Amino acid sequence: MLALDDVRVAYGNVEVLRGVSLRVSAGELVCLLGANGAGKSTTAKTISGLLRPRGGRITFLDARIDGLPAHAILRAGIAHCPEGRRIFPEMTVRENLEMGAYIQGRGGATSLESVLERFPILRQRARQLAGTLSSGEQLMLAIARALMSNPKLLLLDEPSLGLSPTMVETTFRLIAEIRQQGVTVLMVEQNAALALRMADRGYVMETGRTVLEGPARELLANEHVRRAYLGG
Ligand SMILES: Nc1ncnc2c1ncn2[C@@H]1O[C@H](COP(=O)(O)OP(=O)(O)OP(=O)(O)O)[C@@H](O)[C@H]1O
Ligand SMILES: [Mg+2]
Repeated sequence: MLALDDVRVAYGNVEVLRGVSLRVSAGELVCLLGANGAGKSTTAKTISGLLRPRGGRITFLDARIDGLPAHAILRAGIAHCPEGRRIFPEMTVRENLEMGAYIQGRGGATSLESVLERFPILRQRARQLAGTLSSGEQLMLAIARALMSNPKLLLLDEPSLGLSPTMVETTFRLIAEIRQQGVTVLMVEQNAALALRMADRGYVMETGRTVLEGPARELLANEHVRRAYLGG
């Protein structure tokens, strides 16, 4: 479904992605692991068109998407739930969701109803200002907003960041559900143990490169992964 081949991205003259290659098949949940600054968020932003690669290629459903503007990539079926949620704090929950449909220019009422069905908490809080939601609720909103575009592929950047252990569990259950409903997921996670337990496959990034890949089970048992990301 999605393929990155030797993707290179620079901020100014500093090359931060120096050869990222990965594949995500339809229906898979793939996680992208790596230390702080490895380039995980940059990879997600490049896939969703917020950054433009200086080299390599990205294809989605057999069409080349690198170089397309972000709205065209969204319309093609890739939604990005960014690091730190990025909800609109001064808008209500409902308005935030409507922005998710508006930006990609279709969906509308049907999506809103089906999304509210999946997130009863958001229905209860539809008129509340998004900035006053708890961090767990803000995450729900960010995921729900991304789903408003009815994506085929959902990019999740650090969904568990800043959540309590119970909320982390709820979040991961939710991601599993979304995936069961047919949405393919590429997830960036610092919490490698948790991510690998639910993923099909994973990639490890180090200083701007994908250096290791494999089935989640193999990565969990991999000596290097254990030492570097699973605390021994
Ligand atoms: N706008 C920017 N301008 C310049 N350098 C940047 C910019 N954004 C990120 N970088 C640099 O690019 C590198 C990769 O950053 P990125 O955010 O992709 O890492 P990450 O793997 O997501 O890290 P984290 O786990 O901390 O979120 C880092 O060295 C970072 O400082
Ligand atoms: Mg990041």
